[in-house]
Amino acid sequence: MKKTVAVVGLGYVGLPLALVARNKGWNVVGFDVDAKKVQKITAGVAPFEDEFVATQLKDNPLEASTDPICIVDAEVVVVAVPTPVTDDHIPDLTPLTSSLESILPHLQDGQLLSVESTINPGVMTEVVLPIIKKRPELTIHIVHCPERVNPGDAKWSVANIPRVIGGFTKEATKKGKDFYESILDAKVKEMDSVMEAEAVKILENTFRDINIAFVNEMAKSFDKLGIDIKNVIEGASTKPFAFMPHYPGNGVGGHCISVDPYYMIEKARQVGFDHEFLKLAREINNSMPEFTVALLDRAKEKLELSEPITVALLGLSYKKDIDDIRESPALDMKKILEARSDVSLRVFDPHVPRMSTVDSLDAALTDADVVMLATNHSNLVEALTPENLKQYGIVCVIDGKNALNADGIAEAGMLYLGVGRTREAK
Ligand SMILES: NC(=O)c1ccc[n+]([C@@H]2O[C@H](COP(=O)([O-])OP(=O)(O)OC[C@H]3O[C@@H](n4cnc5c(N)ncnc54)[C@H](O)[C@@H]3O)[C@@H](O)[C@H]2O)c1
Repeated sequence: MKKTVAVVGLGYVGLPLALVARNKGWNVVGFDVDAKKVQKITAGVAPFEDEFVATQLKDNPLEASTDPICIVDAEVVVVAVPTPVTDDHIPDLTPLTSSLESILPHLQDGQLLSVESTINPGVMTEVVLPIIKKRPELTIHIVHCPERVNPGDAKWSVANIPRVIGGFTKEATKKGKDFYESILDAKVKEMDSVMEAEAVKILENTFRDINIAFVNEMAKSFDKLGIDIKNVIEGASTKPFAFMPHYPGNGVGGHCISVDPYYMIEKARQVGFDHEFLKLAREINNSMPEFTVALLDRAKEKLELSEPITVALLGLSYKKDIDDIRESPALDMKKILEARSDVSLRVFDPHVPRMSTVDSLDAALTDADVVMLATNHSNLVEALTPENLKQYGIVCVIDGKNALNADGIAEAGMLYLGVGRTREAK
């Protein structure tokens, strides 16, 4: 008989994982508090943009429920609920604790419980374990196996990204490793403790945040010196060791890199350590939407633009070719632009039509003065050629992702302002 895995939280992480497990012969059931999402999934419709999810669900909907009792027959329970921060950047563990409380009455002796949500070191011990211990009669094998999925990445998916795992007992870790190796085409590394597994994920994501903050800061100073950061990174990348390219831009978004450092910052604060470096990185990355929008003032002065300046803000999601807008710097840019009395704003994102103010790129560009690219969606980058922009009468391109043809745009007679790179109109 097929073994069952129950997935708690059917979002960007939980749903692809559920489908990967099903493909590897597991019986899968999903639990989510979002009734609309459950309805879609059980009707075979992807609740968010994801080609793999859409294809998998189309002819074979997933069994899912808003009733936590659905986990009762599972050998394995995987928790993949959100771990956001509050407006003050304080970790909010409510989805995690409430999901655990709701499955608690239905847990069964001997089950493997894996938490995949991103958490700081200590959460498994201080938050997860005490909840499960409310059923002392049960032996639950508890592990943490942080998810590393990179939405929109064609090469690395839930199915083939290697994992690390840490359990409260050796037996739990071994059971967890066996489970993940049965569903993944990837290696699973056993860590010495749950806390080490928690720390791995925090290290990975703060590493990215800090490196991006570093190039963002370099972009700001190179901008003053008239040095092109993109060319410099290309040059530095010829060094075959000890340099890893990271790229500047209009900010860092998404549910991971812009959030996870705050979990570590807060935890460290509680134990008397001040994470100055992590805090500074967050500050620099959070300043980038404002820096990018402020390029408009340079354009205004150089080109003597008359008010109102019609700006086409293109892209809303936090990264290319997906529809996830969580913590997106494009939303901050939108807010800053909306507050400006000298700007008439159009907003268009082909992946986020519900928040667009126009329904096509053509409508966004017609009679616009300035294009501001906030997300480098492939179809936007392809369409924003110098010739096309020129035809629409655009006078300045502000490229928040350094993704467009800077030289071509300048040669076509437009001012190009990227993040740490400028080309005067020829
Ligand atoms: N999205 C990513 O790229 C990514 C990558 C790696 C790790 N993570 C981590 O994985 C976790 C999940 O992220 P996500 O992007 O899938 O989030 P998501 O918001 O897309 O999905 C989470 C799901 O959990 C459900 N949920 C919320 N509270 C619940 C509850 N009490 N009981 C049951 N279900 C509940 C929500 O309705 C939602 O469908 C987070 O900790 C995140 O940091 C995300």
